[in-house]
Amino acid sequence: MLKCYTQPAAKEVVIPIQAIATKEFEHWLSKQKDKIKNWIKTTKFKAESGSSCLILDNTGRPEHVLLGVKNAEDFWAYGALPRVLPAGLYQITAKLSKENLERAALAWALGTYQFSLYKKQPAITAQLALTKQNNHKQLEHLVDTIFLVRNLINTPTDDLGPAEIAEAVVKVADECKATVTQIIGDDLLKEGYTAIHAVGRASVHAPRLIDLRWGNPKHPKVTLVGKGVCFDSGGLDIKSADGMSTMKMDMGGAAHVLGIARLLMLNELPIRLRLLIPAVENAVSGDAYHPGDILATRKGITVEVTNTDAEGRLILCDVLAEAASEKPDILIDVATLTAAARVALGPDVASLYATNDKTAEKLLQCSAVEKEPIWRMPLHTAYRSYLDSQVADIVNAPTSRYGGSIIAALFLKEFVPDEIDWVHFDIMAANVKSQPGRPEGGEAMIVRTIYSFLEEKFK
Ligand code: BES
Ligand code: MN
Ligand code: MN
Repeated sequence: MLKCYTQPAAKEVVIPIQAIATKEFEHWLSKQKDKIKNWIKTTKFKAESGSSCLILDNTGRPEHVLLGVKNAEDFWAYGALPRVLPAGLYQITAKLSKENLERAALAWALGTYQFSLYKKQPAITAQLALTKQNNHKQLEHLVDTIFLVRNLINTPTDDLGPAEIAEAVVKVADECKATVTQIIGDDLLKEGYTAIHAVGRASVHAPRLIDLRWGNPKHPKVTLVGKGVCFDSGGLDIKSADGMSTMKMDMGGAAHVLGIARLLMLNELPIRLRLLIPAVENAVSGDAYHPGDILATRKGITVEVTNTDAEGRLILCDVLAEAASEKPDILIDVATLTAAARVALGPDVASLYATNDKTAEKLLQCSAVEKEPIWRMPLHTAYRSYLDSQVADIVNAPTSRYGGSIIAALFLKEFVPDEIDWVHFDIMAANVKSQPGRPEGGEAMIVRTIYSFLEEKFK
């Protein structure tokens, strides 16, 4: 398969991509020759972000490409091009900052993604010619990582159960010289991970906790946790067919943190990294955990299961308790935790919860630069009372339908001591419709934001 970008040879002819800001379009058009004016009229090109127009020379060959952009920061627009341009070698000519030039190349590459494991997809034949300014290695790390995250999310459950998630983690660990240990099946009970076991025990694919470690133990401790529910049927509180239809993607948080870990390790950040992924299938069987069950979680907090479909917070609570016990310098979890977060912010905007205002601010800054939208949500402690239980310390799901994402975050917070710099992301991990650089399906939504935040903090 043709690589979507290349370092061209010195004299190779490239087709320039000319970016035109939507607001400047009319002015720009007024200064063009009649030939261009007429062609633009014919094609109805209006320089809207991500729209493009191919200009041919007198011999009928591509001469240059016009690309509509919002402004110089609108690197995502470049992601629309590889799917619409004919075969050829194209080059970005806009005077972008070094970072945005790299992001534009990344957007192009991300726009070529196809999930072709099960179906041959039409070939994409347009290639981007990198300039000397592009950091080829860094681009490759990002593209490979994001494609890995997308592939994991898109792979159906039958081919991506807890064991296969572990395989994916081991593969990355081998590549980066990290170590992986696992606690599998009934051993989870022996080691005190009762909630992970309860959620995962109904499946023939045993639940497991995957634990990757890397780096110098003397360096600051970064711990990443990801929700790895390979399929969420809802358990005995079974989901509707519609609600279940996308639940192969309920391991999106795990895929995210694996991607972030890969970037941290490849770039050799001076940190001690720990990656924890509870991997389970929330299945229905004679041995499924029940509504009404009371779980003695790892931290000693008892949890009344009021809804078996609120399984993500259960597997995460045991892991957060373990992660926090080491007093990491920062603890970040990523999870496809609630439908309520999607009602509040829609599919594309990730919900951020943080105990430390500075951390939240920095993350918001990174998100604005990387153009991966996130929105901070409140850990509104007054809602803690919705978790009150008559028979246990807390319930896993309140009877009220209101504030579902916040209450899920408050549930997790019970397992993390106040002094820990803790960040929780409630995300969708998928595009419901295609946008430039972001085709429909599994998506690494906040991988670059979290990576750049950690790079800034620890490098
Ligand atoms: N995995 C789902 C949340 C989800 C749904 C994420 C749709 C992305 C898209 C989670 O396990 C779940 O089922 N949450 C319930 C919790 C409720 C029972 C308290 C929800 O949000 O409806
Ligand atoms: Mn669920
Ligand atoms: Mn779930």
